[in-house]
Amino acid sequence: MDDRIITEEELEEDKLVDASIRPLYLEEYIGQEDVKQNIKVYVEAAKMRGESLDHVLLYGPPGLGKTTLANIIANEMGVNIKTASGPSIEKSGDLAAILSTLEPNDVLFIDEIHRMPSYIEEILYPAMEDFVLDIMIGGEGNSRSIRINLPPFTLVGATTRAGDLTSPLRDRFGIIAKLQYYTIDELVKIVKRTSKVLNVEIEEEAALELASRSRGTPRIANRLFKRVRDFALVEGNGIIDLEITKKALDRLKIDDKGLDDTDHQLLLAIIKKFNGGPVGIESVASSIGEEVTTIEDVYEPYLLQQGFLKRTPRGRVATPLAYEHLQIEYQSDLFE
Ligand SMILES: Nc1ncnc2c1ncn2[C@@H]1O[C@H](COP(=O)(O)OP(=O)(O)O)[C@@H](O)[C@H]1O
Ligand SMILES: [Mg+2]
Repeated sequence: MDDRIITEEELEEDKLVDASIRPLYLEEYIGQEDVKQNIKVYVEAAKMRGESLDHVLLYGPPGLGKTTLANIIANEMGVNIKTASGPSIEKSGDLAAILSTLEPNDVLFIDEIHRMPSYIEEILYPAMEDFVLDIMIGGEGNSRSIRINLPPFTLVGATTRAGDLTSPLRDRFGIIAKLQYYTIDELVKIVKRTSKVLNVEIEEEAALELASRSRGTPRIANRLFKRVRDFALVEGNGIIDLEITKKALDRLKIDDKGLDDTDHQLLLAIIKKFNGGPVGIESVASSIGEEVTTIEDVYEPYLLQQGFLKRTPRGRVATPLAYEHLQIEYQSDLFE
């Protein structure tokens, strides 16, 4: 079993518990204050006008609350949400099938929208702009295009890579929101909320410890909470205290900055095998046996944000902070 805490995907166990801990309304959604304030205004205005909300693009690293926010938008609007993921829409008929189920002002949520085939994207443009769908029917020799009118709807797209969206697609979103890593304070609130919902007590210092080791990411905070809860049950008295938390997180090899084994391997490879960099991402990826996209989407953003890694035109560089954190003496570059 792959026991990683930091993964891109939602794990099965996430889905089970998620239903109960996922916030349903803006009021329960912690942090992302700017995004929240804006969405609140836009939703209110759309409701006052009795119109659909403008199309929304949510982007940011995995686990920061994009799917949660898409569902909240639908709840706040008081409409249905239909969910699809970019790669799963293979044929124009797939898109037509989803679109034809929409009621006025409903939300269509397309996750991983950057992975949608480009011919699907082209059918989506008129759907987004004029709420019409042009599809080809018939086969060889007698195919023709028919136009179907759609009810007004809101497309909510989510992506970890806004840079991979074509500009015609990006331009069709009226609201574009970038989700940021959460502060430790915000993660403490999230952990406490989870503790309440799951009815498992966590002490103040334990919540702080857990929050500071969660990589700024609610999904990881909740995953760690569940693991720590198991340790508290089996090796303690069921209450999550600081000692149990530290013990569990050490056992899971999550360090005091929230870095896991792969983060360590990645930084160590740059430092030891490539002299601290600059080194191309492909070389780093193959030297630690990870996919380039996994490194770029999952690992790198946090290492960059925390200042362990720098991106330069010639490649990735490990910063003095990375050396310090890994307790390796920094050899400063003569040419720096
Ligand atoms: N702002 C938030 N407040 C409280 N919990 C959150 C928040 N954002 C995310 N979560 C929790 O983290 C989990 C992962 O969020 P999710 O929306 O699935 O992330 P993404 O779609 O960006 O990968 C959710 O199930 C939810 O329980
Ligand atoms: Mg998601």
